[in-house]
Amino acid sequence: MSLHLKRGLPTLREAMRLLRRKGCNSKIVEHSILVSGKAEELAEKCLRRGLNVDLELVRIGGLLHDLGRSVTADVRHGVVGAEILREAGFDERLARIVERHVGAGIPRCEAEALGLPSRDYIPETLEEKIVSYADKLAAGDKIMGIDKVLKEYSSRLGSEHPAISRIKRLHEEIMGLIE
Ligand SMILES: [Fe+2]
Repeated sequence: MSLHLKRGLPTLREAMRLLRRKGCNSKIVEHSILVSGKAEELAEKCLRRGLNVDLELVRIGGLLHDLGRSVTADVRHGVVGAEILREAGFDERLARIVERHVGAGIPRCEAEALGLPSRDYIPETLEEKIVSYADKLAAGDKIMGIDKVLKEYSSRLGSEHPAISRIKRLHEEIMGLIE
């Protein structure tokens, strides 16, 4: 039985420890550090534009977005990671970032077809959108330009896949906020 402790956000050090303790390999950890850094940069730009964004939530969310990859590399890793964080009693806003980062958001109809618990996984808050977007830009140890990201997703999923237009929309929305 879980203790359902209420513990807010983990610190950076605790988040790093959690990744290691749950068995995320160094490739996942490096990717997570990259996403966290990119997400932080985007959040800082939003702050400079006077937008209300929780920088610490974005930083930790970026670091833990792929926590569920310690259990599965497939599309369920967002839901699995969010459950680990809920069980540990962390801030629900963090669990939502993790749950909604996959594929620039997955609507209920697609989620059901993929065998995910039936609900919408579309990033709603600015923090959720920033982490999901930063993750789309990160490949291996680099941040890619949006054109390359779209090209890679198109060749992987097919150019008509709905995730492609979601990534485009997310890009336009974030750019609209910070440029
Ligand atoms: Fe992921």
